[in-house]
Amino acid sequence: MREDVAEAAQILARWGVVALPTETVYGLAADASNEFAVKKIFDLKGRPSFNPLIVHVKDLARAETIGEFSPLARRLASVFWPGPLTLVVPLQRGARICSLVTAGRDTIGLRAPQHPLMQMVLSLSGLALAAPSANVSGSLSPTSAAHVQASLKDVDLILDGGETLNGIESTIVQVSDDDKALYILRPGPVTAEALEAASGLRVRLKTQDEAAPIAPGALLKHYSPKAAVRLEAAEVFEGEGLLGFGPEDEDRATAVFNLSPRGDLIEAAQKLYAGLHWLDDQGVTAIAVRPIPQSGVGAAINDRLRRAAADE
Ligand code: TXA
Ligand code: MG
Repeated sequence: MREDVAEAAQILARWGVVALPTETVYGLAADASNEFAVKKIFDLKGRPSFNPLIVHVKDLARAETIGEFSPLARRLASVFWPGPLTLVVPLQRGARICSLVTAGRDTIGLRAPQHPLMQMVLSLSGLALAAPSANVSGSLSPTSAAHVQASLKDVDLILDGGETLNGIESTIVQVSDDDKALYILRPGPVTAEALEAASGLRVRLKTQDEAAPIAPGALLKHYSPKAAVRLEAAEVFEGEGLLGFGPEDEDRATAVFNLSPRGDLIEAAQKLYAGLHWLDDQGVTAIAVRPIPQSGVGAAINDRLRRAAADE
């Protein structure tokens, strides 16, 4: 086993925080039962205390000691875990989760991540880990250890697991009380189509306004590069960088990052933040973004791009 994995587990057991890879983006983790440790996450990120954190667990059995799983929630967990799906479920009474994590709510967002390093840390430490994305609140999410390093200075340890596989944050889903409806609070790698196939239900994507009171992280401005972002760009202006999709004439912009020359949405999601980070580093005045189809994981890509482009 890698030495830094053992070190990560030790730091977490001693109330520290560690940045580590998941299959979606890098997370900034702390023991979810420890108020002192969780407070460090909020301080390091500059995260508003009303925004609750997702708790990461090894598997469904552990998740059921923290949240109440209806038959439908259990079914979704068994189909998609370990993987990039977060389920918002009622918090168990007496669960050992500090109230900072849930921002005082009676629900909790739980997921069992798939990344092998994250799984090892969960097993070794035996902890449930609260972990938001490992970036300063409101800025771009990190998909590499270098991104974390550039955004957060005072982390005890960054576990380097290379570039993340899915590249965008987990899909957040809430199941209605009667188990008859499914709502997406944040689109992500697990698509509406996949959720419908697994549940036999029609899935509703909550709008920004509907989702924000339930998942405060759904506040509009988010995931922002330093440069302005211009969506659905048919042409590229002087000084702009280009975030391309599909075949491009690469000579036209100052800087071009093509998300997927062959027009593959999964590849585009994987590279989205890396592309925005890279274009930001080129010092462009603005980033022109080609239209991205809304199907499959395209819904999640467009969700992040809309927030990156929002004024506030
Ligand atoms: O892929 C991911 O989900 C990554 C990796 C690290 O796991 N984490 C992540 O965390 O994206 P964060 O903190 O950046 O986003 C968490 C989102 C926020 O929008 C928050 O409002 C929502 O989850 N959330 C957390 N607990 C919730 C709850 N009890 N009810 C509703 N929304 C919740
Ligand atoms: Mg985040």
